[in-house]
Amino acid sequence: MPLDIIVGAQWGDEGKGRITDLLAAEAQVVARYSGGDNAGHTVTVGEQLFQLHLIPSGIVHPHTRCFMGGGMVVNPETLIQEIDRLDALGVDVSPKRLKLSTAAHIVTPAHRALDGAEEARRGGRELGTTRRGIGPAYTDKAARRGLRAGLMRDPASFARQVAQQVQAAGEMLEKVYGLQAPDPAEAAELYGALAERLRPYLADVGALVGQALQAGETVLAEGAQGTLLDLDLGTYPYVTSSHPTAPGALLGLGVGARQLRRVLGVAKAFQTRVGAGPFPTELQGAIADRLRGTGEHPWDEFGTTTGRPRRCGWLDGVLLRYASRVNGLTELAITKLDILTGLDPLRICLAYQQDGERHNDLPDSAADLSEFTPVYEDLPGWQADLWQARRWEDLPPQAQAYVERIEALSGLPVRLISVGPEREQIIQRDTREVDSPY
Ligand code: GDP
Ligand code: IMO
Ligand code: MG
Repeated sequence: MPLDIIVGAQWGDEGKGRITDLLAAEAQVVARYSGGDNAGHTVTVGEQLFQLHLIPSGIVHPHTRCFMGGGMVVNPETLIQEIDRLDALGVDVSPKRLKLSTAAHIVTPAHRALDGAEEARRGGRELGTTRRGIGPAYTDKAARRGLRAGLMRDPASFARQVAQQVQAAGEMLEKVYGLQAPDPAEAAELYGALAERLRPYLADVGALVGQALQAGETVLAEGAQGTLLDLDLGTYPYVTSSHPTAPGALLGLGVGARQLRRVLGVAKAFQTRVGAGPFPTELQGAIADRLRGTGEHPWDEFGTTTGRPRRCGWLDGVLLRYASRVNGLTELAITKLDILTGLDPLRICLAYQQDGERHNDLPDSAADLSEFTPVYEDLPGWQADLWQARRWEDLPPQAQAYVERIEALSGLPVRLISVGPEREQIIQRDTREVDSPY
């Protein structure tokens, strides 16, 4: 019966794909509920590196059924590319196990062009979007003129509606932005052909999730992006246009809260952000470079989707407590603890300072964090390589103390500790209770 939600507790790229892969071993259904191909989730299995943008990370396990929910915006072209890529890697991506909600919205070439045009017009004040057309597609949805995936059931009529959308958006692109618009006839031909291929994947995902829960199956809802990128709850306007938080899972899958069991927040052992916006614990210089890595390893801090270097900083305990509150987190998974090896001392942000006043929690939403100076606590670092650690006892005492400090600050048990990108590089801890600050 249970529904478990995996949600990013920071600004995205926390390792949600890797944790989803781990928990998918015990789930029958894995479902993405929000966002689109702005997401980039990595799963490492031995020599194979899977990068998922739209398809749930659970697809890597052959026993799962995988759904893309109605809260998503889907570019049919990149979806087909992803299906073909996975197929070439030997993954079964047939419509028997992969379903796309008829309620998901379609991203067109015009949405992509508008995303780029709007960024360019912000001239120096860009949001740093992924330029995948995400904002414009959700704008059309909210304006009630969007194209829903269910339209692909009739490819010829869908193609005509795509042409109309591209034509209308094209007028904006030409008249407002002075840019060349995508060709409506070309878009219609392409999208008509894509619809022919995607038609068998269409389903009422809400009903399928309901049936799975009724049948006693475990449904794992895989979040994209992160709490602080939520349209309402994040660092607005430096956010994405959807709801990556736990409430977004219910709406995005079309399921109620009754069967909710766990809400697992995934957080890195430090903080990263890609794109613009406030970041109180951001670091410049040698420590930031060290956290980011050089780009030679797949896990170095360069965007999976855009290749952009990620901004890096110390772990922010204030934001972790905030993520716990707004998502109703039941537990944490901490990833990339191995990356902190060799840094001494380590710092964690306990509170914010503003005009001589200390705030242990956000005084006024997460929208504007730019005024705050972090109050840090220093903790001793460690030198040992953590890649071989598989049990709590394998961690050096300083690493244990660091994790325990996260538990005390967040009020949440840290049930999973990831010490490397590989499936088995994980420490799973027993069920433990921690005093909640709420
Ligand atoms: P997601 O968007 O939240 O799924 O995260 P990404 O896949 O964009 O970024 C996380 C990166 O860190 C990926 O390359 C993962 O393989 C890698 N990763 C995840 N957990 C760990 C870990 O514990 N240690 C190391 N070194 N890499 C990790
Ligand atoms: P995953 O699922 C990190 C960021 C962009 C930008 C802002 C708005 O891999 O964690 P958008 O294209 O959504 O309109 O961009 O959101 N962003 C992400 N950052 N990880 C992601 O996904 C992101 N998806 C969007 O960088 O700052
Ligand atoms: Mg990512």
